[in-house]
Amino acid sequence: MIVESVELKDYRNYEFLDMKFNEHVNIIYGDNAQGKTNILESIYMCSTSKSHRGSKDREIVRFGEDESHIKLNVLKHDMKYRIDMHLKKNKTKGIAVNGIPIKKAVELFGIINIVFFSPEDLNIIKDGPSERIKKAVELFGIINIVFFSPEDLNIIKDGPSERRRFMDMELSQLDKIYLSNLVNYNKVLNQRNKLLKDIAFAPSEQLMETLDIWDMQLVKYGNLIIKGRESFIEKINTIISGIHSRLTGGIENIKVSYVPDVDVNDFEEEVKNSRQKDIKYKATGKGPHKDDLIFLINDNDVRKYGSQGQQRTAALSLKLSEIELVKLVIKDTPVLLLDDVLSELDSNRQNFLINSIGDIQTIVTCTGLDEFINNRMNINKIFKVTDGHVVNEN
Ligand SMILES: Nc1ncnc2c1ncn2[C@@H]1O[C@H](COP(=O)(O)OP(=O)(O)OP(=O)(O)O)[C@@H](O)[C@H]1O
Ligand SMILES: [Mg+2]
Repeated sequence: MIVESVELKDYRNYEFLDMKFNEHVNIIYGDNAQGKTNILESIYMCSTSKSHRGSKDREIVRFGEDESHIKLNVLKHDMKYRIDMHLKKNKTKGIAVNGIPIKKAVELFGIINIVFFSPEDLNIIKDGPSERIKKAVELFGIINIVFFSPEDLNIIKDGPSERRRFMDMELSQLDKIYLSNLVNYNKVLNQRNKLLKDIAFAPSEQLMETLDIWDMQLVKYGNLIIKGRESFIEKINTIISGIHSRLTGGIENIKVSYVPDVDVNDFEEEVKNSRQKDIKYKATGKGPHKDDLIFLINDNDVRKYGSQGQQRTAALSLKLSEIELVKLVIKDTPVLLLDDVLSELDSNRQNFLINSIGDIQTIVTCTGLDEFINNRMNINKIFKVTDGHVVNEN
């Protein structure tokens, strides 16, 4: 898949922008706060309908204006797609694919073979299915993007919720049924927690019967989530071990271990057993919303025993595995957006990342060109950004 061009109007610090990308490596460089990430954000918006930074539409509209426009031209399996997005300060956004407003573009579902998912979309899922979800889901999958930012390097150091988010993002990208199960699980979880509060406040037989029903649903969807995550981590392990071994010159061997909070076979029993505790704490204590991942390097937990460098290297291997897995499943290449990550890596790892990019379209932002020149990276197009103005330098 290739992003051919992006046009912006009154988007962040861009009054107007028209950029045509090369199908290989594109570099966007410039000083801090000039508008580099804003460009990547606008591309990401067109694949998920949301900002990767979690910004609201009204924050994206250029200061002093009422509306923003994004126009993205994409080539996928020799088919052209044009995504038009119209952001408004106080109204919901309008989206059209090839001129057809997205709500009517149901036929697109046949073409879409993957679901793209961003961290921000998990918040929608927590809110339960809504009009917004329907819209976003229709957009997912037309554009397959892997977004890599410095924060991704902290996945091992971060709390378990980040690792669950990683699993959910990736799985939802590859498996629509998983996404639907996740939406349902989170809905049930919210309802159950609400009910637990009601029971703690004024217990009644009727409420306890309702709790039985929610428990059954929780176990049903929870088990589907656990099974999905189990098989996903199995797939990741077949890919990541080779990548990590090459990345560390054969010194380190990595294994990602899925640590479900409860086993599929025990979930029903555990929910029963923790009922009184749940009522006391007014929250569901057991289930996949408490799962975690452990990264083992040479059999040791890298979160506990690894150096910062080892943790970041493991995170890089994980990100590279993501690209490979997306390629395998969708049988197409995603577009890779690298937001200022190279400067976070030492030169060996920079080299490895650059060499791993291979033939996928990549858009990189950075403050200077040194890293690329030092690594003799093949650059196909260079853009310099200054205060919301982009100049093509080659
Ligand atoms: N709604 C908006 N209207 C106008 N300008 C905005 C708006 N939102 C953000 N900006 C401006 O965009 C600039 C930041 O852009 P961006 O985050 O793309 O910078 P960057 O080049 O990636 O910087 P860094 O190297 O620090 O990451 C800031 O100058 C900010 O004031
Ligand atoms: Mg930036």
